[in-house]
Amino acid sequence: MLSFTKVCLYASLLHAAFAATAEDWKSRSIYQIITDRYALPNGADPTKCNPGAQTWCGGTWNTIRENLDYIQNAGFTAIWISPVSQNYDGPRSAYGDAYHGYWIADATQLNSRFGTADDLKALSDEVHKRGMYLMVDVVVNNVMATSLTPDYSKYMFKDAAHYHTYCPVDWSNITSEQNCWLGDTKVPLPDVNTELPDVIAGYQSWIKDLVQTYNIDGLRIDAAKHIPAAFWPKFCGAAGVFCIGEVFGDDIDFAASYQGPQALDSILNYPMYNALVDAFAIPGKQNISALVDTIAESKQKFKEPAVLGNFLENQDLSRWKNISVDPQSLWNAMTFNFMSDGIPIVYYGQEQGFSGSADPWNREPLWPSNYTNTTTYELIGKLNGLRNYLINSTDSFLSSDVQVLSSSDIGISIMKGPVISVLTNIGSPPKNVSMPVYTPFAGNLITIDALTCKQYVVGSNGTLSVQYSLGGVPTILVPESVLQGSGICGSSNTGAIEQTQGQLTTSSALTEVQRPATAMIALALFALGLIMGA
Ligand SMILES: *[C@@H]1O[C@H](CO)[C@@H](O)[C@H](O)[C@H]1NC(C)=O
Ligand SMILES: *[C@@H]1O[C@H](CO)[C@@H](O)[C@H](O)[C@H]1NC(C)=O
Ligand SMILES: *[C@@H]1O[C@H](CO)[C@@H](O)[C@H](O)[C@H]1NC(C)=O
Ligand SMILES: *[C@@H]1O[C@H](CO)[C@@H](O)[C@H](O)[C@H]1NC(C)=O
Ligand SMILES: *[C@@H]1O[C@H](CO)[C@@H](O)[C@H](O)[C@H]1NC(C)=O
Ligand SMILES: *[C@@H]1O[C@H](CO)[C@@H](O)[C@H](O)[C@H]1NC(C)=O
Ligand SMILES: *[C@@H]1O[C@H](CO)[C@@H](O)[C@H](O)[C@H]1NC(C)=O
Ligand SMILES: *[C@@H]1O[C@H](CO)[C@@H](O)[C@H](O)[C@H]1NC(C)=O
Repeated sequence: MLSFTKVCLYASLLHAAFAATAEDWKSRSIYQIITDRYALPNGADPTKCNPGAQTWCGGTWNTIRENLDYIQNAGFTAIWISPVSQNYDGPRSAYGDAYHGYWIADATQLNSRFGTADDLKALSDEVHKRGMYLMVDVVVNNVMATSLTPDYSKYMFKDAAHYHTYCPVDWSNITSEQNCWLGDTKVPLPDVNTELPDVIAGYQSWIKDLVQTYNIDGLRIDAAKHIPAAFWPKFCGAAGVFCIGEVFGDDIDFAASYQGPQALDSILNYPMYNALVDAFAIPGKQNISALVDTIAESKQKFKEPAVLGNFLENQDLSRWKNISVDPQSLWNAMTFNFMSDGIPIVYYGQEQGFSGSADPWNREPLWPSNYTNTTTYELIGKLNGLRNYLINSTDSFLSSDVQVLSSSDIGISIMKGPVISVLTNIGSPPKNVSMPVYTPFAGNLITIDALTCKQYVVGSNGTLSVQYSLGGVPTILVPESVLQGSGICGSSNTGAIEQTQGQLTTSSALTEVQRPATAMIALALFALGLIMGA
């Protein structure tokens, strides 16, 4: 029998990990934070933050550190924080102040608006103490200016010759996207010339130092596609940690060219995001074929779909709720992101049903929500709990590629490892429709819907059917045997269960067990596995 201390020792050894790789990140799930908007210091006035004002609201690295329970209790195993480098802090620009952190001044200095070097180290330490990873957003492509002729001496690269000469971006020409200046003439973003040897060397020593000083486990790279892919392998090599880049756009061939040894470990999967909007948003195209096609293309074109970033929102997109009014559309799409290939990412506030449109309305302060345990927060907790358990207790979840089992106009069923997720776009109103699922399971196998704990028994020919007479809920079917010992849905339960072949049955005997128990048991099993395997 393992002692509690031993389990904790294993956990802490694992998590003190320096230099986390893509392989390490595969098993993580990420909560994305805009530092200024996550939490207020004690005593601050909670009514003063208006996203439309485009100015600082008061969040810091300390207030993130003081409020990590909210993130960890939802089962996340990593946070991604907005850029930590010094930003423009002069008179208000045409687009307000640099509260978001993306308007880089001197990258070698920290942003004092968010705290000191010790504060950032304390955040990093606390994140690691909890067994979580820290991902930091970095801006390499450009700096920020308020004119086309800035004083270059205030930046990390101090000579005009370190920058491409000004030209407005022609969005139909990738060379122009990479060499011209993002932003506009009111707030230009001077484009660093990342082909120059001293810029390349300067950036490499900068990132190595940043990662080591603050014990950073991964980098999210802003505007990654605006630098030729060839720049990234050595930059990320110097960083020595996982890199996930922003490659905005729905051209999957171009996106795929940014993942691999010739580019980055990973990118944020915009093509899949677009497909999820096409498939699930209400009102919307409700085009399930678009999702089926993108899953197939993703598997064929990306080097490693398992490490791509899956998201439904971020600081550049309208909130899901702003484009899709039905909550079931969110819950089904979100279930896809956790139960298919890739690293799930949730942008702060999505769990609170925020509904702002694009920048700056999608950067709401989190505190007016009172960090409530909402239905979406609870769903995320279940998704993380199940995913974390499957990763710890089965070899097949992470190592297997997602398969589409069936699809129709109203839904899709996918399988990854031993888990079948049945997703629909019909929305909340009950309908007399169903999704057939063709499983590879033997007839009579008992599966449990991990979200409701209802039981489904596989039909004699391996099929199942999920009915939507109670509305378009997501369903996650896991063989009962896989859940043994997980604590999920009272896994050891053997009480009376009504069952019908191939059909949904309900059971009051199945109840959920508290998550902390789940985590402890799974952690113990995981540590035991390590010892046995060693
Ligand atoms: C959220 O509420 C549900 C019950 O409504 C409870 O089971 C769960 O433990 C709560 N989660 C947290 C993190 O408090
Ligand atoms: C694309 O943009 C680059 C950089 O601005 C420019 O030199 C080149 O002529 C453009 N190509 C076309 C086809 O417009
Ligand atoms: C659905 O998306 C696919 C792309 O995968 C497209 O070919 C098809 O025309 C779309 N159908 C509708 C009805 O928009
Ligand atoms: C979308 O966001 C805008 C700006 O925040 C808001 O005015 C609008 O009501 C939102 N739409 C929905 C459907 O929430
Ligand atoms: C948060 O708490 C404040 C003060 O108790 C209350 O006025 C407000 O309605 C709460 N907001 C939510 C979303 O629960
Ligand atoms: C579904 O069909 C049954 C009969 O087969 C009917 O009693 C019920 O009202 C229908 N429900 C809906 C939501 O249409
Ligand atoms: C397979 O089994 C299901 C449930 O038992 C049944 O509804 C369906 O008709 C069967 N299909 C075939 C092709 O036998
Ligand atoms: C899974 O294992 C990790 C260690 O890699 C541990 O931190 C986490 O608590 C475990 N989670 C569950 C739900 O078993």
